Formats: sequence, structure tokens, C-alpha cells
Amino acid sequence: MNKKILLSGIQPSGALHIGNYLGAIKQWVDLQSDYRVFAMIADLHAITVPQEPEALRSKTLEVAALLVACGIDPEKSVIFVQSHVPAHTQLAWVLNTITPLGELERMTQFKDKAHIKYEFWTEMARYYRDTGELLVQITKHLENENGNDPEKNLKLKIKITGALGQSGFETIDKLFQIEKTREEVLAGILNYPVLMAADILLYQTNVVPVGEDQQQHLELTRTLANKFNNRFGETFRIPKAHIQKDTARLMGLDDPSKKMSKSAPSANNYIGLLDTPDDIRRKIKVAVTDSGKEIIYDEEAKPAIANLLRIFSAFSQSAIADIENQYRGKSYAEFKNDLAELLVAKLEPIQRRYHALSQDEAGLRAALRRGAEQAHTIAQGTLRSVYEKVGFAV
Ligand code: TYM
Repeated sequence: MNKKILLSGIQPSGALHIGNYLGAIKQWVDLQSDYRVFAMIADLHAITVPQEPEALRSKTLEVAALLVACGIDPEKSVIFVQSHVPAHTQLAWVLNTITPLGELERMTQFKDKAHIKYEFWTEMARYYRDTGELLVQITKHLENENGNDPEKNLKLKIKITGALGQSGFETIDKLFQIEKTREEVLAGILNYPVLMAADILLYQTNVVPVGEDQQQHLELTRTLANKFNNRFGETFRIPKAHIQKDTARLMGLDDPSKKMSKSAPSANNYIGLLDTPDDIRRKIKVAVTDSGKEIIYDEEAKPAIANLLRIFSAFSQSAIADIENQYRGKSYAEFKNDLAELLVAKLEPIQRRYHALSQDEAGLRAALRRGAEQAHTIAQGTLRSVYEKVGFAV
């Protein structure tokens, strides 16, 4: 029972894809014999963007079945749902009281998510600037949006005029970002990393295997843990991120400049763990490639092929250099064909196990209940010590 602790989480939203698998889940599976693994389904995080309640409920069970199908063994490891363990939100509240707003506003994921709303504005700014009508059009839109709030409109107009006077798009983009962030972005997205810190710190976690997009949140977790320890005395273990270099950031198949994402607008962006063989073949076939025809690993000149090579290498467990050799003089089509068949073969056993497990909903729910009980016992110990240290009358 003296094993080190591993905790990580995944949101039950969208389709789980090979990026989630290679970047995160596979490390949890591989580390199961050396670590006590806490595999958490992060439903509290999922609601930071609107979810359809019934879909969220069924997705939560789907993810639980998929984690087991991928190899997390509920007899050895603790699989649980975040909202089943109240200590997560309770500790998050306490941590919020030591988290500077500035730190949260600097998080890349926050800026990215907040930015989605402004793409419309950015596009519009670009278009009208090009056609020389920017200010007139922006003014019109502001009036539509803000109605008769002359103070708000005037404030914005002054800023826009100033920004236009000195520079190009950068400033305009930023301007919209800042204004809209304050007005519309939901507080849950801003506070998201604080909840994530609570998830990790409650279990006195040693390692947190995640993809690269979560690294900054891990840094914040460490900062908060140190801050709390310094102020109130040793309470939390300082966790480390565990990032698998080659698979920490798989890129979108339809756009290798952006990471593969569950919430991508097109399903051609990713290979879902539950995609049918035909879907997999079709998606790999239409995946973007680079100019030229050689299959070589070059992040700069050939980002699309580099991404496919990383996927090939991770699933076949062969070195990228060996794959390059194997495909010297061969076409993109041949390479893609083999990659598709490799993916079909590797996902087949996961899908088979998944379909069997999802027949037994009662069994899954029971496993999640057991997981929550185990998690609760440990989390409660840390929470109690936090409550004592901050001075609650426990
Ligand atoms: P989520 O649900 O977005 O993603 C789950 C895991 O998959 C990794 N990942 C990727 N890895 C490689 N390439 C990609 N394209 C890719 N896309 C996603 C993510 O880095 C992540 O490891 N906030 C977390 C969930 C969470 C959590 C935690 C994680 C909540 N609490 C505590 C660790 C510890 C998230 O949204 O992951």
C-alpha cells in the first residue's frame, strides 16, 4: 500500500480520441503496477461549457467503460466521477481564496476558450479594415449588441479609435478579447484550473500524466500548493507533471496547426476511440498532408506528416526513424493506408471490450460507486487537515 500516487482526469464531453489515449490514458494504464492510480471523470469541469444534461450523464458512463476497456483495472485502480466526491469543490473554494486573478487570466486555455467568442469580431474587423469601413461597421455592431448603453459604447469607441490609430490587428484583437472577456466569459472557465489543483492536491499526488495543454495548469497547482504550505504549514505534496514527449500534443488531422480536439467543429479532426473501421479509413484518407511526397519527420516543413508519423510510431511501437526507412520511396497513399489499418487493428480490442462492458450498466455504476467511496476516504483526510489549518471550527 506504499505505492506512489498517480492522478489524472478526463472530461466526459465530446468523443474521446487517440490524442486523449496516447497523451494521457495510455500512461495511466502503463503506470498501474508502479503507482496507485486515480482515474477521474471530470464532470464538474465539463459543465464549464454548456452540456446537454442527458448527454452528459450517458457520456460519463461511456467514459467509465472506455477507461476500463483501455486497460484501467477497477480492481487495482480507483475510477471515479469527480462530482461524486464533494471534497473537490470544497477544496477548490479554499484554493480560490489564495489564487490571484491575474494568474487565472494568463492561462492559455482560458485565453483560447474565451477567444472562441471573438472570432466573429476578429473576422469582421479584418474584413472591414480591408474595405476601409471598419469604424463605421464596428460602431453599428456595438450599437446592436449594447443597445442604448451610451456609456459602454463610448468607452469602446474611444478604445477602438485609439487602437486603430496606432496599429494593426493585434491591438484590435486584443481589445475585443479584453472587453468581451470581462463582459461575457463565464466564471467557471476562469476558475477551472483551481478546481483542477484541488483534484490533484486532495490525493497527495506524486505524478499527473497529461498532454501538453494541461502543463500550465500543473504549474499553477504547484504554485498554489507551495503558497498554501508556506502560509499554513506543510499540507500538500507538490505534484509533478508526467508528459510523454512524442504524444503530448497530437495535432488535428484536418489542420496540423491546431491540436486534436474533442470539441473540434469537424469529426475529421480526430480519430475517435469508438470510430468504426470505415470511419478510420476515411478520416486517414482525407487527412491533410504536406507538399512534396517524401515521408520524413520534419516538424517545420512537414507538420502533417510529422503528426501522422508520431501516431504511427506510438501505435506500432517502432521508432520514427525506422518508419521513415520503411517508407522510403513509397507514396503518401501507401503510408496512410497502412496507418489506417494499424489504427483499425489497435482500436478493435478496445472497442470489443467497450461494447461488452457497456452492456452491464449496473456493473459500471457499482464500480463507480466503489471508486467514489475509496476516493472520498482519502480526499476527506486532506480536506479535514486544510479546514483545521485555515481555522474552521471542525
Ligand atoms: P481533457 O478531457 O481535455 O483531456 C484529457 C487528457 O487528454 C490530453 N489531450 C491530449 N494529449 C495529446 N494530444 C492531444 N491532442 C490531446 N488532447 C487532449 C489532455 O492533456 C488530458 O491529459 N482539465 C483536464 C481534465 C482534468 C484533469 C484534472 C487532468 C480535470 N482535473 C486533474 C489531470 C489532473 C481536461 O480537460 O482534459
